[in-house]
Amino acid sequence: MSTIEQAVKRLEELRAAGVDVPWAATPNADSAPAPTTAVPQQPTSVRPLPTAVKQAEPAPQEAKPQDMGTRSKQVEIDLNKLAALGYIVPHATRSLLVDEFRVIKRPLLGNITGAAAGKIDRPNLIMVTSSLPGEGKTFVAANLAMSIAAELNHTVLLVDADPSRSSLLERLGIPPAQGLIDKLLHPDLDLSDLILATNVPKLAVLPVGTSNAQATELFASASMDLLLEEMAHRYRDRVIILDAPPLLPSAEARALSLHAGQILFVVQAGRTHQGTVQQSLGILQDHPMVYTLLNQSRGPKAGSPYGYYAY
Ligand SMILES: Nc1ncnc2c1ncn2[C@@H]1O[C@H](COP(=O)(O)OP(=O)(O)O)[C@@H](O)[C@H]1O
Ligand SMILES: [Mg+2]
Repeated sequence: MSTIEQAVKRLEELRAAGVDVPWAATPNADSAPAPTTAVPQQPTSVRPLPTAVKQAEPAPQEAKPQDMGTRSKQVEIDLNKLAALGYIVPHATRSLLVDEFRVIKRPLLGNITGAAAGKIDRPNLIMVTSSLPGEGKTFVAANLAMSIAAELNHTVLLVDADPSRSSLLERLGIPPAQGLIDKLLHPDLDLSDLILATNVPKLAVLPVGTSNAQATELFASASMDLLLEEMAHRYRDRVIILDAPPLLPSAEARALSLHAGQILFVVQAGRTHQGTVQQSLGILQDHPMVYTLLNQSRGPKAGSPYGYYAY
């Protein structure tokens, strides 16, 4: 039986067992209510994501900066650059990528606002990780953030939590600034002063901050746990997306995974080896809410925005 056949069979088994799999249905518009059903324990729905097609025409700049209700500094995300790189930007015309992220975010948002919400600790803390560098974590985190920020009822805090290969700010066209590491080193700093409000309505960014040789230790520290607890509860109304380090080369992501309510595990199609994926999923095996996303899938299946599921 092929992987796809196994996946379809698994999906049917889940449905037969009475488990609702709302993300397998046709996606609605952004404003559609999030699903209210529980998802299975240890779900590992593999969703293929195509390689983004670079846009010829840059998107218009968002004119009105959004005050996140904090003392946040204002920064400008370079939307023209992001659009040229093929990322989702506000008012992007409908594309395969926009459709894909509509589907990807639904179960994640469903776990925040739906019936499963009470059963998950810190459901609004979503960690995007993968096995190795370069598999598309930052790409997925940024697009997920843009997609959720386009929702009527969700604000987003996108956190650069990858000190080893911090590229989020540069990708967004934002100059380096203090952030996560500074807060861990100096607990007296107020998070509100470090969070950057952006020109994308309902999207704020927390930089990784000043580079530090002790970043690994800091990430695994009790201070990090306290900080994530503070973020998840103080900004309870926000979806917090952690652009995290890869799981295998260092201990940082492993430590972070213990504190995130939901994990989006990125696998790069045609590149990440099966053994590598199994090793990573082994690290995450006790986590109750892991979604697996197949990034840069190609071939005929990539033409479908709904793709296939595997486990
Ligand atoms: N689906 C995709 N379509 C187009 N470009 C992508 C896609 N996924 C990743 N990339 C690009 O590949 C490069 C590596 O991805 P990145 O998100 O930085 O990986 P990571 O954060 O895992 O190290 C970046 O230039 C990113 O924009
Ligand atoms: Mg990255």
